[in-house]
Amino acid sequence: MSLSWSAKEHKTMNQPAVTGLKRPRNDVGNQVTVVLGAQWGDEGKGKVVDLLATEADVVCRCQGGNNAGHTVVVDGKEYDFHLLPSGIINPRSISLIGNGVVIHLPGLFEEGDKNERKGLKGWEKRLIVSDRAHLVFDFHQVVDGLQETERQAQEGKNIGTTKKGIGPAYSSKASRTGLRVCDLLGDFKDFSSKFKNLVRQYQSMYPTLTVDVEDQLKKLKEYGERLRPMVRDGVYYMYEALHGSSKKILVEGANAALLDIDFGTYPFVTSSNCTVGGACTGLGIPPLNIGDVFGVAKAYTTRVGIGAFPTEQLNAVGELLQTRGHEVGVTTGRKRRCGWLDLVIVRYAHMINGFTAIALTKLDILDVLDEIKVGIAYKLNGKRIPHFPANMDVLHNVEVEYETFPGWKTDTSAARKWGDLPVKAQNYIRFIENHIGVPIKWVGVGKSRECMIQMF
Ligand code: GDP
Ligand code: IMO
Ligand code: MG
Repeated sequence: MSLSWSAKEHKTMNQPAVTGLKRPRNDVGNQVTVVLGAQWGDEGKGKVVDLLATEADVVCRCQGGNNAGHTVVVDGKEYDFHLLPSGIINPRSISLIGNGVVIHLPGLFEEGDKNERKGLKGWEKRLIVSDRAHLVFDFHQVVDGLQETERQAQEGKNIGTTKKGIGPAYSSKASRTGLRVCDLLGDFKDFSSKFKNLVRQYQSMYPTLTVDVEDQLKKLKEYGERLRPMVRDGVYYMYEALHGSSKKILVEGANAALLDIDFGTYPFVTSSNCTVGGACTGLGIPPLNIGDVFGVAKAYTTRVGIGAFPTEQLNAVGELLQTRGHEVGVTTGRKRRCGWLDLVIVRYAHMINGFTAIALTKLDILDVLDEIKVGIAYKLNGKRIPHFPANMDVLHNVEVEYETFPGWKTDTSAARKWGDLPVKAQNYIRFIENHIGVPIKWVGVGKSRECMIQMF
């Protein structure tokens, strides 16, 4: 047999075999729906998750930390979520923070309390936190800032991180000195001694780092007690959710494909896997339980922070997208860089994630443009390249090939079905769909829940 299986052969392989070792696919339990960013973040994942969460039983975060900023607008009220899954708004669903997430406890409680003041009730009772999740400490956040200063001094540029301590916390995890929720809730003497060792380790690398260890430990103990009722064995919780009664389970990706530590525009990336594999490793669920994978892409492109951005428009078009789109970071308040839709990166995200459908957001922002461009290929030395370059120097040098569309110059914000959209906008959407080779299931034309056209 050849190494590449056809879809038909693959299906056959999943049928029960005579040996009884292979189980049919429908034996694997509930299928999980995953929502992922297909660009550089801020595509509108929060809004898509909110839409699906209205009927979900469990909504999970599997990676990242409070570097994420997901906006949800319901009944004119705007919520921003950073660590809490956006599904927390739904009083009938459980929200889960999985083992792959890094948690800054002061940030988590601050976020919950802030949203409670906006009217979010009972969130602590609906939240479950994996005991295997790693903790982000205040000093990780300070170190994030120190590393940025160091990068600036040494290389003349930094990454433009959110300074939420994400890189340092995942570094502690990878170097096996990190501390997890289960450590905090276990023997506190043991936790304190490991915490002190970790502080010393960072102080030896950053001599200017001062940490009031006793004060930190006192606070961590208090946070730990507040967290205790929410903590479960995340793997077992997911196992039961997958294999018990029929349940709708949703995974809310944070950050995005081009910020993925393995596949993104390294080193200008975040420190976790924001692509589909992160849903398995960050929750402890088997790949066979992954069902639909929805990619979220803006009808144009934005990026916060430093790094290559081939379709960036440092001109009036970029400024218009920035102001009309209110492109300001939810977490850091920084202006987002803006440019034309880049289908090379969305196709690349699809190669990795295998999207079953796309949500195309913020179409309404393009309503006033005379003409709209879409990047469809990259050229190097005049020749098209079929892949997305790994090397940032190469990516900086690509020439983008564009397709140009006439603008529809019509307000689409009141459109609620396909037929309400101008034909020129329909053509734009169909082109994108054909070029990526993935159906577009939703088109966003405004901030709020109802401003989403469902195509099928
Ligand atoms: P996320 O990080 O992917 O969840 O996205 P953010 O919340 O950081 O940024 C998306 C922004 O676009 C938010 O302010 C949303 O309210 C807004 N938004 C989402 N979809 C649409 C849309 O279709 N039209 C408009 N005008 N705004 C949208
Ligand atoms: P959501 O989930 C946009 C970017 C930062 C920076 C780089 C590394 O809202 O889409 P980090 O603090 O993670 O070490 O920063 O990654 N970044 C995001 N940009 N949206 C996000 O999340 C992001 N999360 C990280 O701006 O360039
Ligand atoms: Mg965001």
